[in-house]
Amino acid sequence: KRLFLINGPNLNMLGKREPDTYGNKSLEDVVTLVEQVAADQGYEVTSFQSNHEGDLVDWIQRAEEGAEGIIINPAAYTHTSIALRDAISAISKPVVEIHISNVHERESFRHTSMLAPVCSGQVVGFGIDGYRLATLGMIQKIESEGR
Ligand code: DQA
Repeated sequence: KRLFLINGPNLNMLGKREPDTYGNKSLEDVVTLVEQVAADQGYEVTSFQSNHEGDLVDWIQRAEEGAEGIIINPAAYTHTSIALRDAISAISKPVVEIHISNVHERESFRHTSMLAPVCSGQVVGFGIDGYRLATLGMIQKIESEGR
């Protein structure tokens, strides 16, 4: 059983990028965390990060055959991307959206998610630990209802 962990633009700079907002853990730390939490529940993880919208679309589509579900931090594309939303709508696998920061206490353009209406759940504002919560929530979804 496999999960996809997909991280969007600028998350390759995690740890160095705006540490007051996003903390000082790296993307590698995030991947290790998700792998450990998933392994405890009997799941493997394929991790992918890209700064390019179309590459993220490709990976969402790939989950239909390749994964039981997706944990995704779409980063800035959260607020703009109809293409990512349509990709999520196009697959039958559950998707959980995660944001490290509490987007609702930030600029108003971060208050809207194009993706949330087609996701199974959302984790917001728990820092890096949100990835742990998203992984556990994702597995709970898969094992209980499927989507
Ligand atoms: C983010 C929030 C987004 O608004 C922002 O563009 C990011 C990171 C988060 O994890 O808090 O790049 O998705």
